[in-house]
Amino acid sequence: MKIGFIGAGKVGTSMGKYLTERGIEINGYYSKTVRSAEEAADFTNTRVYTTISSLAEDSDGVFVTVPDGAIGDVWEQLKMLPIKNKIISHFSGSLSSEIFSDIDRCGAYGYSIHPLFAFHDKYNSYKELSQAFITIEGHEKYRKKLADMFESFGNRTCMIKTEDKIRYHGAAVMASNLFVGLVDMSRRLLEQCGFAPEDAVSALSPLILGNVRHIVRDGTENALTGPVERNDVSTVKAHLEALRGREREVYRLLSQQLVTIAKEKHKDRDHTALEGLLAQ
Ligand SMILES: NC(=O)c1ccc[n+]([C@@H]2O[C@H](COP(=O)([O-])OP(=O)(O)OC[C@H]3O[C@@H](n4cnc5c(N)ncnc54)[C@H](OP(=O)(O)O)[C@@H]3O)[C@@H](O)[C@H]2O)c1
Repeated sequence: MKIGFIGAGKVGTSMGKYLTERGIEINGYYSKTVRSAEEAADFTNTRVYTTISSLAEDSDGVFVTVPDGAIGDVWEQLKMLPIKNKIISHFSGSLSSEIFSDIDRCGAYGYSIHPLFAFHDKYNSYKELSQAFITIEGHEKYRKKLADMFESFGNRTCMIKTEDKIRYHGAAVMASNLFVGLVDMSRRLLEQCGFAPEDAVSALSPLILGNVRHIVRDGTENALTGPVERNDVSTVKAHLEALRGREREVYRLLSQQLVTIAKEKHKDRDHTALEGLLAQ
């Protein structure tokens, strides 16, 4: 399969380098600015395209690595071209292949390929890309072929149904961005209790880092400690009385989630009182 990239940014450049290093034939890059396409082509030893049509003509697979907001515009241009039997994929986490509207009528096959990975820069991210878990969503014809390609490089993959794509992305946001919100809430509460702003996050760091290591190594059930895990109703009640507004609501809802874990972990315990408390 010969691949051409539209969008010579962090993901396009990194993915192109990653694939060429593993023997996949990359034709080259088209990008909004020719300079970006030239830099990516230099880095990957491929060529620069100055039109989308010439890139599409040369490629069996077109990887659209532009920002999410530009994928629809690029597709409007691609769908006017003879793209029968070609693989068209974007790399957005939140959008599905449905953004390629009317692709069946073009005779092409649409996908979204999403590496669960933060691409920090164009020239170094590819070095760690083999550790990325990659999700693939889209037409069944080439789904397995795409997954097999990444698995042959050592990536683990998961097929996501089109209707689950946005929920999948919400899940990823929970563990990454929302975790930032939770830590921020915690450090603000510490500051209200007298911590200097510069100390609050560093004071939490052994808790945060130990917890993350434990979750990743042993799973959420084994990592859970604290009052909910101990079924300590009076401490949870005191926490709820001490918190107000959004902090109280976040504490209450997440504690309900912890009760779900605690019930699986300690099937012999009665969690009725705790559940009743957290329902209010
Ligand atoms: N960054 C991440 O960590 C990450 C992780 C997973 C998935 N993704 C997804 O990967 C995709 C690309 O993200 P990115 O981080 O690589 O973005 P990026 O670094 O901003 O690169 C986007 C590239 O697309 C080019 N471009 C913009 N509009 C275009 C258009 N209409 N036609 C052609 N080229 C256009 C840009 O322009 P120039 O030619 O001016 O440079 C730029 O080179 C997005 O869908 C994003 O959600 C990103």
